[in-house]
Amino acid sequence: MAIAEPVFPVSLDPAWIRSQFPSLAQTLNGQPAVFLDGPGGTQVPRRVIDAISDYLAHDNANTGGAYHTSRNTDNMIAEARAAMGDFLNCDADEIVFGANMTSLTYAMSRAIGRDLGPGDEIVLTLLDHDANFSPWKALEENGVTIRAAKFNPSDCTLDMDDMARQITSRTRLVAAGYASNAVGTINDASEIVRLAREAGALSYIDAVHYAPHGLIDVRALDCDFLVCSTYKFFGPHMGVLYGKREQLKMLHPYKVRPNTNNIPNCWESGTLNHECIAGIKACVDYWEELGRRAHPFAKSRRDAIVAAHKAIHEHESRMTERMIAGLFAIPGLKLYGISDPGRFEQRCATFVVRIEGHTPLELATKLGERGFFTWDGNYYALNVSEQLDVERLGGFLRIGLVHYNTMDEVERMLVALREIVA
Ligand SMILES: Cc1ncc(COP(=O)(O)O)c(C=O)c1O
Repeated sequence: MAIAEPVFPVSLDPAWIRSQFPSLAQTLNGQPAVFLDGPGGTQVPRRVIDAISDYLAHDNANTGGAYHTSRNTDNMIAEARAAMGDFLNCDADEIVFGANMTSLTYAMSRAIGRDLGPGDEIVLTLLDHDANFSPWKALEENGVTIRAAKFNPSDCTLDMDDMARQITSRTRLVAAGYASNAVGTINDASEIVRLAREAGALSYIDAVHYAPHGLIDVRALDCDFLVCSTYKFFGPHMGVLYGKREQLKMLHPYKVRPNTNNIPNCWESGTLNHECIAGIKACVDYWEELGRRAHPFAKSRRDAIVAAHKAIHEHESRMTERMIAGLFAIPGLKLYGISDPGRFEQRCATFVVRIEGHTPLELATKLGERGFFTWDGNYYALNVSEQLDVERLGGFLRIGLVHYNTMDEVERMLVALREIVA
């Protein structure tokens, strides 16, 4: 369930937003490019691109050196950590940077798995991206039992009764997604964390798909871990893990001997991608400015991020209504996931469809030729495509909206799709 948002008026400035993203001005075959591939990775604002190249031009160095550029690098990383702390509502020393969510999750599953063996259980879900499935399933090698909560095929929502059944006194960890990168369902993450805590288990939340759409508050959620990827919310290709301070301190990462034992650095193996970390700070700056423009009275960076999410939510909800109504008007189209407007709070603006007589690849290719960038396949949500029996049929066509998309783009995409299947 999305965290309750405060009540104050907000507004988005679409012209300003679009002007921030240089790539949105591109054309293809004389048509404006329409980026509906946000769930695979979003576009980045100019300030992120500049921060990356400025870092390389002026401060390119390793960390911990007794000289100017190295000290600047240390300071820049500290600032980026604090910024991500505000984005997720935690302290800077609870932020771990990594190559991507998948690598961070493998590192964490190996570390947690050190203490697990026969008789211990881990509960996963069949609605998750495989990056929150396979790294935990790998612990079967240690004798750990893996259980997976089902989802309801009719609306693609997590079966919370099944989730509650799977969690027992033997459960050591519950790993679940905040939102599905395939069908767009938003899970009741607070309830999942509560069930895990009640059983004395750790909770590990994959917020990769949720982050561009909804406010994350790890304090309010009270989860032990939460992971996201900055390239899905307008930053560079990197992953970020939040770990509760006491958990990061208690667990033992696999690490080289000279690396510090202090958190969070002990969880960061090798040299990080410093230029991308500079980009992450700029990405949070973008969120802050977006929020301050939406709500000029925001007092802190966190307040501005809250306001940005509120404004984004209103804009994406309007586009969701139009998109779903328009999709249903296309003959032979089947939408997977929540379609009842009364339940749109439980979904984000990510839509997967199949259309009779057309493969997802064919649709994505024809849309792509007209400048509409969508995706086909399973997007690594392998259990979802298998459970819905579309894996053998090429998966789904996925259309993903984020805040820089416009109602006009939604209308044009619907016209193009109608023409393609006519
Ligand atoms: C929901 C979800 N979880 C995890 C991942 C994996 O993220 P990364 O590419 O950062 O490893 C993705 C990527 O698409 C995703 O959508």
